[in-house]
Amino acid sequence: MCGIVGAVAQRDVAEILVEGLRRLEYRGYDSAGVAVVDGESNLTRVRRLGKVQELADAVNSQDVLGGTGIAHTRWATHGEPSEANAHPHMSGDIAVVHNGIIENHEELRATLQARGYVFTSQTDTEVIAHLVEWELRTSESLVEALQKTAKQLEGAYGTVAVDRKDPSRIVVARSGSPIVIGFGVGENFLASDQLALLSVTRRFMYLEEGDVAEITRRDVTVFDATGERIEREIVESNAEHDAGDKGKYRHFMQKEIFEQPTALINTMEGRISETAVITNAIGVKAEEILRKVEHVQIIACGTSYNSGMAARYWFESLAGVSCDVEIASEFRYRDFVVRPNSLLVTLSQSGETADTLAALRLAKEKGYMSAMTICNVAGSSLVRESDFAFMTRAGTEIGVASTKAFTTQLAAMLMMVTSIGRLQGRINDEKEAEIVKALHELPAHIEQALTLDKEIEALAPDFADKHHTLFLGRGEFYPIAMEASLKLKEISYIHAEAYAAGELKHGPLALIDADMPVVVVAPSNDLLEKLKSNVEEVRARGGLLYVFADQDAGFEADEGMKIITMPHISEITAPIYYTVPMQLLSYHVALIKGTDVDQPRNLAKAVTVE
Ligand code: AGP
Ligand code: GLU
Repeated sequence: MCGIVGAVAQRDVAEILVEGLRRLEYRGYDSAGVAVVDGESNLTRVRRLGKVQELADAVNSQDVLGGTGIAHTRWATHGEPSEANAHPHMSGDIAVVHNGIIENHEELRATLQARGYVFTSQTDTEVIAHLVEWELRTSESLVEALQKTAKQLEGAYGTVAVDRKDPSRIVVARSGSPIVIGFGVGENFLASDQLALLSVTRRFMYLEEGDVAEITRRDVTVFDATGERIEREIVESNAEHDAGDKGKYRHFMQKEIFEQPTALINTMEGRISETAVITNAIGVKAEEILRKVEHVQIIACGTSYNSGMAARYWFESLAGVSCDVEIASEFRYRDFVVRPNSLLVTLSQSGETADTLAALRLAKEKGYMSAMTICNVAGSSLVRESDFAFMTRAGTEIGVASTKAFTTQLAAMLMMVTSIGRLQGRINDEKEAEIVKALHELPAHIEQALTLDKEIEALAPDFADKHHTLFLGRGEFYPIAMEASLKLKEISYIHAEAYAAGELKHGPLALIDADMPVVVVAPSNDLLEKLKSNVEEVRARGGLLYVFADQDAGFEADEGMKIITMPHISEITAPIYYTVPMQLLSYHVALIKGTDVDQPRNLAKAVTVE
């Protein structure tokens, strides 16, 4: 699930490998390692717990020479994060790195132990090293040994092997975890993500499910799942070298809004199978904790708080676990009661928000069962200080107004909720398959929501000359309205408020007039009829309505009401989906107002002060 880089070259590759790992750091990891072989079959393996920088320091302090190598950042799923469990794993002359999970590792381990193999780690990965070593004894080539090995593996993986005795090649298998091969001049590379290789090449070949390939300095040979030789297309990448580049976009915020389909794919990759959430992929300690959690206390600030508010509905309705959400700056200064078997969850894009960090430190003294963080920055303070971390892999978020971090946090929490529900017997296989299907479909739906850009841009002038805006939603769409109002405030400096639509009549209705646009988030769900009554309350008072409505919701546009039709999608993931048009709306209003979209006045990206 984390990072793999490999190289076969004439020059020394250690530096290229480590640089590749650095580019994959955003994905989150707990340890890193590299194995390099020189022309005389000398293999040097270096592994370190912690940051890639520590691995880099260790590599620089000794001679790690050789043109053939494999490297890895590990996100432990089987066995604690430790140097002994870090990859590459070795068996005789074979070194192996692996992303993902081998589900049948216990049976394979028993078989291999019976053959006399001694295991030196607790990982599932080590079975691959021993299997390749075993199969190589009766195979004509390393690639054949890997093909035979792959047939015995169940689970999702990308794995790479090198044989010390033959440094002219590396071999790789892909099943459920992406692998891309990068073509250089007289040298070739591979990685789990092309980002890792952008400093060495732009020419890539993506392996497909079940592919096994052999890579030498001159050739790349690919075999499909049936063992047939196959040609895969080589594509020229125009991806940006560096996350700090806006590319074709005018602002980072716009770029980050449009990156959401990819950010969601990355966040879910290796963590859901076709029909289930892979609990182990949440972290080694996750299963034990999630099985017994009776209460979830979410702590966060700003946008992260809004995502917690939305997820609360899922914790209670899907997993049947009670959930409270609180702003960190409040939580840290009040006396709170810790319920039995209560899990503290901090949510944060940056992992450095001072209030959230202080709340975590305080809560650790107060007897929570465990402290987990859902975070976007590997190695950040929250990640380091929590008992375990579930990384959103949104990629670097530069715009101060958070967008892709929010939607990926929601996806992460939906996976977590599903695991809890299943482990505690409240979500059956059928329900789990329904949730996972909705997650799989989500990136394509978000892609579609992004095509509303022009339509939403056309609405923006109606808001840009107003001083206030009201956002309404019900149920889990109320927090989506909260997030919409925060976005508009932050970047357009227009005063905006969100209300649970049923609360309107208890006060805010007094504000309604033709100068107060009212935005309504209106998916088709059980609360639709109630929401329609709330919309009528606004209409009857001459308010201007902008309703983002499900195609089947049955709203009719008229003078006082504009309808933005949203295709029908699963109710479960709809809160994530409806977020996107709200982000686009605030972005376009800010453009008209001419504010500094990426660095709005008075705000900072990481609020490291109280
Ligand atoms: C989001 O648009 C804001 N810039 C802000 O509310 C932010 O979400 C908050 O400061 C929390 O940051 P964090 O997620 O990095 O902890
Ligand atoms: N399951 C393997 C391990 O725990 C690989 C994890 C990863 O993808 O980094 O070591």
